[in-house]
Amino acid sequence: MSKNIDWSKLGFAYMKTDLRYVSKWKDGKWDDGQLVEDNKLAISESSTALHYGQQCFEGLKVYRTKDGKIQLFRPDENAKRLNNSCRRVMMPDMPVEKFIDACVQVVKANADYVPPYGTGATLYLRPFVIGVGDNLGVKPAPEYLFVVFCVPVGPYFKGGMTPVNFTISEYDRAAPYGTGAAKVGGNYAASMYPHKLAVEKGYADCIYLDPLTHTRIEEVGAANFFGITKDDKFITPKSPSILPSITKYSLMYLAKEYLGMEVEERDVLVDNLDEFKEAGACGTAAVITPIGGIEYKGKLHVFHSEKEVGPITKKLYNTLYGIQFGDVEAPAGWIVEV
Ligand code: PLP
Ligand code: COI
Repeated sequence: MSKNIDWSKLGFAYMKTDLRYVSKWKDGKWDDGQLVEDNKLAISESSTALHYGQQCFEGLKVYRTKDGKIQLFRPDENAKRLNNSCRRVMMPDMPVEKFIDACVQVVKANADYVPPYGTGATLYLRPFVIGVGDNLGVKPAPEYLFVVFCVPVGPYFKGGMTPVNFTISEYDRAAPYGTGAAKVGGNYAASMYPHKLAVEKGYADCIYLDPLTHTRIEEVGAANFFGITKDDKFITPKSPSILPSITKYSLMYLAKEYLGMEVEERDVLVDNLDEFKEAGACGTAAVITPIGGIEYKGKLHVFHSEKEVGPITKKLYNTLYGIQFGDVEAPAGWIVEV
């Protein structure tokens, strides 16, 4: 490995890597796209992405297996979700094959940045689409850029598999029929202030309740919530304003098919946290982060433990992690080898 990186010290921070992929949409179609060295974009000062938030992004990881192979986890699902986000903010579709090809090109061109097996680190891919070109009124842009760059990363929440505590936010990240289910930047801009308040209070992040009634758990910062009931069911919230997490749907499948658990997507009432013996946050960046406790109205509700991960969360983690790093056989179609 020629890169001088201390893989075990990586957090979730930007680092310029060698090449990124850029494709431009103009006159109704995407161009062929190319790998470029420059990590700066030159765009019109009037781009809709800058003024009206016409943009969206994705996040997926690249894993090195024990025998040195490099693999992607369910990139087709990220491509489909990118397209759902694009449609919500009136941007053109990106063909799934072109999305995956761009990811593969970026990984091949930056293969030295894929962390070695056993370090726990991964290469994070950040595809995004932005509206660019000259424009002034609130309307879709005349041109778009699709970019994929990559950064080697470690854990998103400090501590990895050590439980962390969260606090319930009084703020919303999205509206009931707004853009919560789309991965658009505005949702994340709206989350920065509540996140800051949570960190100031000593929590890893905040949990959002449903924006209509503030009674049901929705998101755990930039991750989805799951809980394990006392009778071993895997429960995760259902709502139109939650980002449909690919990790969450993967865990639902694994819980059912690999671990024989019952699985349910339904309301999770913040007043009924007692129904869970374990809880966690799941997402590409978060992987599975065990939730030690949740603070709500001045009281900390502790699940399994603030210090140790619960046994079912651990089993789910081992199964998912094993599949992603090639140690456990994956369901058909989940792994794309580079
Ligand atoms: N929820 C939000 C708001 C997110 O930003 C993410 C990350 O993409 C997730 C959930 C988890 O989604 P995924 O598992 O597809 O990464
Ligand atoms: C993810 O890809 O899991 C994220 O949501 C990343 C976050 C930094 C927005």
